[in-house]
Amino acid sequence: MRDIIKELEERRRVARLGGGEKYIEAQHARGKLTARERIDLLLDPGSFEEIDMFVEHDGQEFGMQDKKIPGDGVVTGWGTVNGRPIYLYAKDFTVFGGSLSKAHSKKINKVQDMALRNGVPIIGILDSGGARIQEGVDALGGYAEVFQRNTLASGVIPQITMIMGPCAGGDVYSPAITDFIFMVRNTSYMFVTGPGVVKTVTNEEVTAEELGGAKVHTTKSSVADGAYDNDVEALAELRRLIDFLPLSNTSGVPEQPSFDIRDRAEDALDTLVPDNPNMPYDMMELVKKVVDEGDLFEIQKDFAKNIIVGFGRIEGRSVGFVANQPMTLAGVLDSDASRKAARFVRFCDCFDIPIVTFVDVPGFLPGTSQEYGGLIKHGAKLLFAYAEATVPKITVITRKAYGGAYDVMASKHLRGDMNYAWPTAEIAVMGAKGAVEIIFRSSIGNDEEIAEHTREYEEKFLNPFVAAERGYIDEVIQPHNTRRRVARSLALLRNKELENPWKKHDNIPL
Ligand code: HXC
Repeated sequence: MRDIIKELEERRRVARLGGGEKYIEAQHARGKLTARERIDLLLDPGSFEEIDMFVEHDGQEFGMQDKKIPGDGVVTGWGTVNGRPIYLYAKDFTVFGGSLSKAHSKKINKVQDMALRNGVPIIGILDSGGARIQEGVDALGGYAEVFQRNTLASGVIPQITMIMGPCAGGDVYSPAITDFIFMVRNTSYMFVTGPGVVKTVTNEEVTAEELGGAKVHTTKSSVADGAYDNDVEALAELRRLIDFLPLSNTSGVPEQPSFDIRDRAEDALDTLVPDNPNMPYDMMELVKKVVDEGDLFEIQKDFAKNIIVGFGRIEGRSVGFVANQPMTLAGVLDSDASRKAARFVRFCDCFDIPIVTFVDVPGFLPGTSQEYGGLIKHGAKLLFAYAEATVPKITVITRKAYGGAYDVMASKHLRGDMNYAWPTAEIAVMGAKGAVEIIFRSSIGNDEEIAEHTREYEEKFLNPFVAAERGYIDEVIQPHNTRRRVARSLALLRNKELENPWKKHDNIPL
């Protein structure tokens, strides 16, 4: 008996070494941690339960029959993050470059199936050379089995991918289906085809970092939702994000003890909006003053900065915040901002996370580059996302809500539950200058007359009361009371019931 136990320990020791000391050293020399070191940082100490530690591939080609390493390049199992369960798989670059074989994909599929069945989030930590070249179609099929499960789990359990090394070919499409992707600066990259293939096909010379590094994907392509300086920071932030997320679409939002005061008045908000309507101000100040303890987990903070999206808590319960940011492009809605916010709103709605929207938007961005880029379709994504969302929706208009953007930003007409406006709100088809130029086009007079018309338009329409008189705004509120109003409304809406008509699935304008 004792010998058998000893053998088990020995087998475990060998499996834990992965590709061996030489490869572990090489991994560290690249500035990366190993799969097991990453798991240790992500999970609560001692909570990891490994599954399939001894699985080996059955490849018979190119000498692979003599090269078997227990675990086959991916560590799988489950554990807890601040006491709440998650499933995970972490590719082990020290074993065949973390490449995916049939056996490797079956290990991932097993934890994917368990996570879905048990209603628990799943985290993938990727660091891989892609399909195991020696296996051919078995590896391709293995990837498709992962994609299929990612798709079925979408909207049922949160799925997050950490890109912590190279990821090409099959290793980019699974992340792209998941809810959030985070990268590590300078050690991770993602592309469908690498620099070598790019050079052959297009004759373009590009480095891996230029083609698919963290900077590219967080600022240009928006494929990734955030980037961190190293593995340790990335995993610490992942723990923070997981705390905000429900376990599944039926579990309800997590609730943490809140040390903040519900009725906290913020007098500084009374002077946040400048007297000059064309002056910017930082919408983040409002978000931070409303959310519990000023704690916001921003998503895609380096992309489409004209809109802020992120998770916070109010009275200890998770809330999704969406806010136009007048500091960038005057907070206008363009294609990028619309796509960014639409995906976030849909995530919140999938997982029953209430949405609080702060509005200061001068409209959609005009111009050929936007129209040619499909602004109509991208703007419609955000419109669609808000319109179909059945979670509690609370909206506060701080200043401009012009034109179509007024409709889109969680207006009353899109089933907003509580729609507030500050006294500084300007709810109109457009700004006064543009309006006067159109209304008085044929009779436009001298500067004095124009100024008079402009004043008249401002007085008549650029305020919250026209909308409030019609019930499109439920209440005009004092800015300093915003947190109190939002918190009280959210508490009342906890048992909100609203269902959309039955359908197989919708047809959002992609
Ligand atoms: C088998 C692989 C491998 C792979 C790496 N290795 N990728 N083994 N299949 N796909 C092995 C290497 O042979 C090496 O083994 C070890 O892993 C470490 O790799 P290095 O090349 O030494 O590391 P590095 O210099 O850091 O380069 C990493 C890399 C490079 C950029 C990922 O290895 C690379 O280009 N690999 C091939 C990438 C690729 O083309 N994959 C196929 C994608 S197509 P030894 O024993 O020598 O140390 C795909 C199709 C799926 O995935 C599509 C589904 C939709």
